[in-house]
Amino acid sequence: MCARVSLIDECFAANRRWAETTVARDPTYFKRLAALQDPDLLWIGCSDSRLPPNEIIGRAPGELFVHRNVANVVEHTDVNCLSVLQFAVDVLKVKHVIVCGHYGCGGVRAAMTPRPLGLIDNWLRHIRDVALWNREELTAIHDPEARANRLAELNVEAQVANVCHTTIIQDAWRRGERVTVHGWIYSLADGLLRDLGMKIESPEQIPPEYRVTF
Ligand code: CO
Repeated sequence: MCARVSLIDECFAANRRWAETTVARDPTYFKRLAALQDPDLLWIGCSDSRLPPNEIIGRAPGELFVHRNVANVVEHTDVNCLSVLQFAVDVLKVKHVIVCGHYGCGGVRAAMTPRPLGLIDNWLRHIRDVALWNREELTAIHDPEARANRLAELNVEAQVANVCHTTIIQDAWRRGERVTVHGWIYSLADGLLRDLGMKIESPEQIPPEYRVTF
């Protein structure tokens, strides 16, 4: 219990040092920032503690709107994720939505084993769906790590599609707003991002079955 209290104390001490250093370097920093939230990017990524989105892509506070959950899932009835997406697109007017997965994702790995973990297994069902849809390709990969990494990529592709199938993105396109949805993957091994080449910016790029406003 003592260790726990001291960890929390450390967080507050670090926070005070950070605020002081920041003001020393730039006296109007917090004043300016309080009035300025103008991000052009929405990041939908994994909750993994090794993956700080702003740092990875060099965005200052105010420049990146963020939603994170286990294994970067965009579920079409998840009011939390949809609310972030709607606020980002309709109110903040972001120009790009990025779904970013990562290699070595614990959520993806967990979805590949039958071992129960609890409530989270229901969430990871979405990844199991992706694995089922791509069963042939995945079973042909013998190395378990390579297979999990491929599933992480396929999961990003599926979640990019889910973003595009929402009424939020389709309504924005209908209004003539330029919103592009991207799928990226991050490697914990070298700190580099890879673009999975999914630049989706119009309803013609999604299956007619999922088009809702055209
Ligand atoms: Co992860």
